[in-house]
Amino acid sequence: MRVLFVCLGNICRSPTAEGVLRHKLREAGLLEQVQVDSAGTGDWHVGKAPDARTRVAAQRRGYDLSQLRARQVSVEDFGGFDLILAMDESNLANLRSLNPGKSVAEVDLFLRRYQLQLDEVPDPYYGGEDGFEAVLDLVEQACDALILEIKGRL
Ligand code: 4NP
Repeated sequence: MRVLFVCLGNICRSPTAEGVLRHKLREAGLLEQVQVDSAGTGDWHVGKAPDARTRVAAQRRGYDLSQLRARQVSVEDFGGFDLILAMDESNLANLRSLNPGKSVAEVDLFLRRYQLQLDEVPDPYYGGEDGFEAVLDLVEQACDALILEIKGRL
């Protein structure tokens, strides 16, 4: 199974989701069976490591994001992944307009798929430190639900 997380810049929310899901898959002994990646709809940060605030907040909870590098989502991703999970409605709309059709990928809003309190992971980029903690709280909850789905699908 192949899962792609998508946000705007691929330096805050989606790399957090990639790191958290990898960590939880490793704990569950499922890492070999699932391919995990992340990408941004925008290209401003391509090639860059995750935002320092994102890396520090993730590291405090035991997630190492230091090896990740930003990339932009591409048309090929719709054929390369089974599940493409957007962080907010704007990312979802951008994905839908990029989608070539006939894709194998199911495209969905990450939090809404698992019926959490919020539908969107708020963009922390222009805010304070608490925004990065909120991203982690939401992503951890949603990844627990995603792991259950993955277990059911493998
Ligand atoms: P992300 O956050 O989409 O969660 O990676 C952002 C990163 C960069 C920008 C906006 C959001 N930016 O405007 O550069």
